[in-house]
Amino acid sequence: MTRYARVESLKSDLGVAGLVDLPAPRLDDGEVLARIERFALTTNNMTYAVYGDALGYWNLFPAEQVGYGCMPAWGYVEIVESKASGVPVGTRIFGYFPIATHLTMRPTKVTSRSFVDGAGHRTGTPEVYNLYELQPRETDPHQDSLTALYRPLFITSYTAADYLRDRDFFGAEQFVISSASSKTAYGTAHSLADSPAPKIALTSARNVGFVNRLGLYAAAHEYADLTAVDATKRTVYVDLSGDPDLRRRVHEHLGDQLAYDCLIGSTHADALPEEDDSLAGPAPVFFFAALQLDAYKAEGRSRAFMERYRRDERAFLELVGRPDRPAITLIEHAGLEDAPSVIAGFHDGSTDPAAGHVFIPDAG
Ligand SMILES: NC(=O)c1ccc[n+]([C@@H]2O[C@H](COP(=O)([O-])OP(=O)(O)OC[C@H]3O[C@@H](n4cnc5c(N)ncnc54)[C@H](OP(=O)(O)O)[C@@H]3O)[C@@H](O)[C@H]2O)c1
Repeated sequence: MTRYARVESLKSDLGVAGLVDLPAPRLDDGEVLARIERFALTTNNMTYAVYGDALGYWNLFPAEQVGYGCMPAWGYVEIVESKASGVPVGTRIFGYFPIATHLTMRPTKVTSRSFVDGAGHRTGTPEVYNLYELQPRETDPHQDSLTALYRPLFITSYTAADYLRDRDFFGAEQFVISSASSKTAYGTAHSLADSPAPKIALTSARNVGFVNRLGLYAAAHEYADLTAVDATKRTVYVDLSGDPDLRRRVHEHLGDQLAYDCLIGSTHADALPEEDDSLAGPAPVFFFAALQLDAYKAEGRSRAFMERYRRDERAFLELVGRPDRPAITLIEHAGLEDAPSVIAGFHDGSTDPAAGHVFIPDAG
C-alpha cells in the first residue's frame, strides 16, 4: 500500500525532526499529485530552516504539527495523479519539495519547459522556489543524485562569481573563502577560475585534508591559522561560514587590503549580521542567489544565463563526479527514516563533507 509521509522539523530545536504519516491526498480540480523520486540534503537545507521565519521558507510547505516546519529540499518527482490540464501523469520535474513521499501542487504558467506551483501559500517567495522544470522521462539515477545535490548550490556559486566578475573582482589579488569544504564554497572557487587570483581556503582542522584533495584551492588553512593568509594582497572575502568571530578576525588581519566581504552562507551562524560600526573595513554584503536570478529575469537575461549555466554545470558535475576521483561519496538512503539523523548531523556540524546524502522515499 502507498505510504504518504513527510519529515517535520521542530522549530525550537532544529536538530530534532520526525516522520509524520499523512492521509492519502484528494485532489481538487487544477491540482496534481507528485511522487517524490529522489532528493538531496546538505547544510543549505539546514540554513533554509534557520531562516524559516526570517526569509519565509516555512511558508512553502505548511507543517501538520504546531511548532514544526517542513524543511525544503531539491529533487526530482513524477506526477502520479493529475486534475490539471497540460501536466499529465508521468510528467517528471525538478524543483523544490518538502522532505516527503508526495506533494500536492497546483500548476500555473504551464509551458513546454516548466510550470509554477500557484498554491496560495507559496506567493511572496522568489520565483526560483516555485518554478518546476520538466525533465526527460528516462532517468540516469547517478546523474540525478549529483544534480539534486549540487544544482541549488552550484547556481549560487556561479551567480556569485558572475556578481564579482561584473565588478572586476573588486581588484582581488586573492580570494579567501570560508567553510571551504562546503559544496557552495568549492563551486565558487571553481567558478572564479577565470580570475588568476589564488583561492585560499579556510576550514575546520578536520576538513583541511578534504579541502586539499579537492584540488580547487591554492592553499588551505584551518580557522586557527588565519594569520598564515598573506595580508599584503588585496583580498575579496567570500564568506560561507557567516561566523561573526571569524569575520572580525578576517577584517582585522587583512585591514586595508580587504576590498570586499561577500557574505553567502551561514554554516557557523544562525542570524544575518547586524550593522556593526566597530568592524574594520567594508561591511559584509549579503549575496542571495535567488534574487540574482530574479534580476536576470527582470533584465530579460534568463535564457542566455541558463544556457551558459547548464553548460558550465555539466562540466562541474563531471569534475566533482569523475569516477577515478569523486569529490564526494554518494550515500543513497532508502525511505525517509534516516532523514532525522542526517539533519541532526548538519545541525551539530558532525557531517562529513565527503558524504553526499540522497534520499529515495519510495525505496523504503
Ligand atoms: N546566499 C545564497 O543564496 C545561498 C545559496 C545556497 C547556499 N548558501 C549557503 O551556503 C552554505 C553552505 O551550504 P552547502 O550546502 O554547500 O554546505 P555543505 O556542502 O553541506 O557543507 C558542509 C560544511 O559546512 C560546514 N558546516 C556544516 N554544518 C556546520 C555546523 N553545524 N557547524 C559548523 N560548520 C558546519 C563545514 O565546513 P567547514 O569545516 O569548512 O567550515 C562542513 O564541512 C550554507 O550556509 C547555505 O545556506 C547560500
